[in-house]
Amino acid sequence: MSDAYKAAYEREKIARLAAEKLLDEKSREVQSSIEMIHYQFNDLMSQKKESDYLLAVSRLTQTDQGLKKSVHDYTTESMKFLNAKCSRYSYISDGKIVISNLIGSDDQLPKLGLNVYQDIYKKDDRSTVMISELNSPELLGVSMVLGINRVVFLPIKSFGKVNTVCEIYLSEGVDFKPEVLDQCQVAGFQISAMLERSADQKELEKSYQEIKLSHDKIKQAQAQLVQSEKMASLGQLAAGVAHEINNPIGFVTSNFSTLKEYSHVLAEYFSHAVQLAEQSDNEISSVMKKMDEKENFKFLFSDIKNIMDDCDDGLLRVKEIVANLKSFARSDEEVTGEFKINQCIENTIKVVWNELKYKARLHKDFDENDCSVKGHEGQIGQVIMNMLVNAAQAMEADGDIYIQTRAQDGFVRITIRDTAKGMPQSVMDKIFDPFYTTKGVNEGTGLGLSISHGIIEKHGGNVSVESEEGVGTCFIINLPIAD
Ligand SMILES: Nc1ncnc2c1ncn2[C@@H]1O[C@H](COP(=O)(O)OP(=O)(O)OP(=O)(O)O)[C@@H](O)[C@H]1O
Ligand SMILES: [Mg+2]
Repeated sequence: MSDAYKAAYEREKIARLAAEKLLDEKSREVQSSIEMIHYQFNDLMSQKKESDYLLAVSRLTQTDQGLKKSVHDYTTESMKFLNAKCSRYSYISDGKIVISNLIGSDDQLPKLGLNVYQDIYKKDDRSTVMISELNSPELLGVSMVLGINRVVFLPIKSFGKVNTVCEIYLSEGVDFKPEVLDQCQVAGFQISAMLERSADQKELEKSYQEIKLSHDKIKQAQAQLVQSEKMASLGQLAAGVAHEINNPIGFVTSNFSTLKEYSHVLAEYFSHAVQLAEQSDNEISSVMKKMDEKENFKFLFSDIKNIMDDCDDGLLRVKEIVANLKSFARSDEEVTGEFKINQCIENTIKVVWNELKYKARLHKDFDENDCSVKGHEGQIGQVIMNMLVNAAQAMEADGDIYIQTRAQDGFVRITIRDTAKGMPQSVMDKIFDPFYTTKGVNEGTGLGLSISHGIIEKHGGNVSVESEEGVGTCFIINLPIAD
């Protein structure tokens, strides 16, 4: 080998060694970059997993899907996040486990006692415990078969109290950084906040309903007060009017009946006198004939009779109105005595039967137990009578009246339903007002229902009405049963 060739070979060798060294250095650099990228990739993946987990839990707290579904989903998400084999959640209420659900395992892991949870949460809010430390030989047996060695306990608190415990069971070999439990805890806080929010809302809704209910009650009580004050003052007025009219009507009636007798006598006298005048032919008879031609005594006396009969009807009507006014005033009196309600209704039906029989078919359905009611039988009879007569009077053609009694919760409910013409709301609003009537002059005083209302209230009961035009009306009376 020539010297020149040797020198060239040496240069070549040095250059190759330098190149190899450089290559070695570069490949080490590339290797460490790959490792770095790999590490960063893993880190990124675990960060993504964490944020996916938190996002999933946060989503489920946005929808109002109730405690059970939220806890179930939270447990499932946490189980996925920790790569666990199976999990369970249990609700705790009044110091007891009320529901316990297992997720992700067909095998029944034995349940843990409340004391286990309590021991754990005394120490920490979240913990990973080896199953071998749990003092549950049964669980230890099953977990060994399933290859489970640890359990993560995640509590859900509401207003400072643990109300749910999630147990996440981890297989041997599954590893995670302890910091990931912080994410589970944050997610648990979100569930707790959601539960508190929904409890607050429920509480708010409950209070709103309570306030609304008491507001309605106050309004009703106010309306009743106004109604009973109206009735009381009208009662006084009615009593005064009845008293004032009673005396003059008394002597008008008595004088009128004397006048009627006198008019009969005079009519008879004149008819004889006229007959005599027709038969004789003297000055008196000619004067009488002339007067008779002029005045027509026959017509006069027959007309006097008609007028008197009309006045009689009018007087009778005024007497009835006065009697009604008195009874209206009397509904204010104290209630004493006791009577059987079915019997009272039967007696009333007998009295009004003549008014009903041509217009309505009556259907009776009485409670087997004829219960006793405290009060005036006559007054309650008057109420029933007015309602039956009203029903019959509201019939345009013939129809049905159903009368029913039922004893319930210390009250007897009397229902009087008809298939008559019914009434519009505008009429229904006024029917209990004194003197309100839709009947013609001389047909109704409009006192029937206002008197009835007063009587029922005085007996400690209540009355309500339902009606539909063209269908019928139903009066419902509730009276307290005597003890
Ligand atoms: N069953 C019913 N069907 C339809 N309307 C009724 C019925 N009961 C009552 N009413 C209506 O209520 C009004 C008031 O009844 P209420 O008994 O107070 O007086 P009234 O019957 O008109 O007169 P009175 O009772 O003096 O004869 C009636 O005029 C009628 O318009
Ligand atoms: Mg009436």
